[in-house]
Amino acid sequence: MKNLKSIIIILLLGALAGALISCKKKETVEPEQTADRLILGFSQIGSESAWRTRNTQSIIEAAEENDIQIIFDDAQQKQENQLKAIRSFIVYQVDVIAFVPIVEDGWDNVLTEAQEAGIPVIVVDRQINADQSLYAGFLGENGIEEGRRAAHFLVNKCKNSNRTINILEMSGTENSSVVRERAKGFREVIAGDSKFQIIHSEDGDFLRSRGKEIGENLITSTIRRDGLYYNGQKIDAVYSHNDSMTLGLLDSIEQYSVNTRNTIMISVDAEQKSIDALIEGKLNCVVECNPNLGPMLMSLVKQIAEGTPIPRITYNTESVFTEDDDFSLYIPRGY
Ligand code: AHR
Repeated sequence: MKNLKSIIIILLLGALAGALISCKKKETVEPEQTADRLILGFSQIGSESAWRTRNTQSIIEAAEENDIQIIFDDAQQKQENQLKAIRSFIVYQVDVIAFVPIVEDGWDNVLTEAQEAGIPVIVVDRQINADQSLYAGFLGENGIEEGRRAAHFLVNKCKNSNRTINILEMSGTENSSVVRERAKGFREVIAGDSKFQIIHSEDGDFLRSRGKEIGENLITSTIRRDGLYYNGQKIDAVYSHNDSMTLGLLDSIEQYSVNTRNTIMISVDAEQKSIDALIEGKLNCVVECNPNLGPMLMSLVKQIAEGTPIPRITYNTESVFTEDDDFSLYIPRGY
């Protein structure tokens, strides 16, 4: 059966090579050989952040360590590319498909096709809005909990203040589950006290360039440099859905010499650069989102291949870094 599958794959690779080349899908890394190893088709959304780059590395490294052959596709931030990649995995007859859904909706048809082909699918990092019977399970972060953790830090930090706390929110890619969840968890906690007001929320697409742009627009709309302002209101706290946008905002703050010493800055991800910014006093809290999903993913792939059902949801372990920590205990993040 496995040998037959290998022969089919070799034939299909030849037939599909032309189509892939004509689509200029240079990001697709095809398997070097098709021996009796498990084959995983993996569709990544792109490389928008250091977090994402580490996530990709973790999955590729873990595949190698577990002797699982991986067909990797970089969708360059486009859902249509992900749909094409998943369809090509189906044609290849891979053993398992895993993908990071850039947005929540629009996966039903392709998942039905995978199901009809008998190929199980694991949803990685971000959740989807589809019938649960269409995929084997989800592996990734608990975005609602991340949002709650960010808000708990803020609530605690402001516990002795009675005045209004004006919040700027920088959110990530529109229509992605992680944005909805991080927004939901955060709002759920601050809703307990009306002094917390989100006065502006803007989509920064998880990009450093967008974080910088959001900062520049705020800064240049006023002559004041004693903090960040939105429509004449001073911003007391920034809640940024990822480190890339936060670092971009810090770039603009530095460029225009804005004094944000009293602005509470909260970020999500915990890449090394933001931990450095925390240590330097530029950030107050960094909520970890753990990109190291590779080993857990390979273990789920093997379970599925053995015919063992996997849990509906597998969350990765995550923590919170704050200004109150003993920084000497930090270990390098590695990304
Ligand atoms: O889906 C996880 C998010 O995507 C990370 O927080 C962010 O950095 C990445 O781009």
